[in-house]
Amino acid sequence: MSDRLKATAIAPSNIAFIKYWGNADSRRNIPFNNSISMNLSAARTRTTIEFDPSFTGDTLIIDGRPITGAARARVSRHLDHIRALAPTDLYARVVSENNFPMGTGIASSAAAFAALSMAGTAALNIDLDERQMTELARLGSGSAARSIPDGYVELKAGGGHTTAFAYTLYAPNYWNLRDIVVIVSREEKPVGSSEGHLAAETSSHFATRLAELPTRLKAVRQAIRNRDIEALGEAIEEDAISLHVVAMTSRPPIYYWAPATIRLIHAVQAWRRDGLPVYFTLDAGPNVHLICEAKHETDVLARLADIDDVLETLVSQPAEGARLTEAHLF
Ligand code: PMV
Repeated sequence: MSDRLKATAIAPSNIAFIKYWGNADSRRNIPFNNSISMNLSAARTRTTIEFDPSFTGDTLIIDGRPITGAARARVSRHLDHIRALAPTDLYARVVSENNFPMGTGIASSAAAFAALSMAGTAALNIDLDERQMTELARLGSGSAARSIPDGYVELKAGGGHTTAFAYTLYAPNYWNLRDIVVIVSREEKPVGSSEGHLAAETSSHFATRLAELPTRLKAVRQAIRNRDIEALGEAIEEDAISLHVVAMTSRPPIYYWAPATIRLIHAVQAWRRDGLPVYFTLDAGPNVHLICEAKHETDVLARLADIDDVLETLVSQPAEGARLTEAHLF
């Protein structure tokens, strides 16, 4: 052991079954609604942070490339939260790697800020429990709070910094689901989720969405508890569409879908008519996540192989949350 202020953490991305969309307090990413997600085994970020008196600013390297501009400024702002906890004014060198290919359209701020929070606090010997770690991660990106605990996770809207935290609903091995990310576009999305959260309240559908959510949250918790793919699937599709209705009716409107997105939705509906229980969900982008039980993964992948729109697929199973690590491999 050295006394260097250095630590490494790995964190998974997650897919929301009930989406977080809109902030009651955007400065601290305090959501309007609870959200529920599953951690993804195949989309992880590994981050090493070192604080050192010789550094004259924060540096950020992602997948071997030095990053400046808005992305580095956002990381610096999160480092400020961590520095305030120590407290220290030391600058940091942050080196992150993703275990999924660059340019897949999966820009995972969830994995990034979960790993950053865990590695940053460890490097400065700040002792947080899991709940406090989720609150810290949430300050970087709301969905990052859900990448700290294991498996199936709920993020409470809470209303305040110490009441908006995430916790495990069920362990990863409770239900062997698959998330198949279907990449139909590698273009960077024109409107990031931060802008989307800000615009949400301008949609006349936003109030309807919030009013529907308590029932839908209950349905998703119950579907996971009962390992009921049909009930889960209906609720997650409804929720994803509800988010996109809000986005498309925001002022100005945000259209995340590509033509291939709707073609894939139609294909999924046709496969279900054929008896294959597979369901879709969509984040703030054109790519589609397909959710099914492990026993149907091969069948779903075989059908995807016949679709020209599909550029790439990435298959995950439910994963544990963020962890400190010494390893140099994922
Ligand atoms: O954590 P953010 O600010 O990137 O927001 C995530 C937004 C969605 O991915 C669309 C939904 C969610 O709950 O993950």
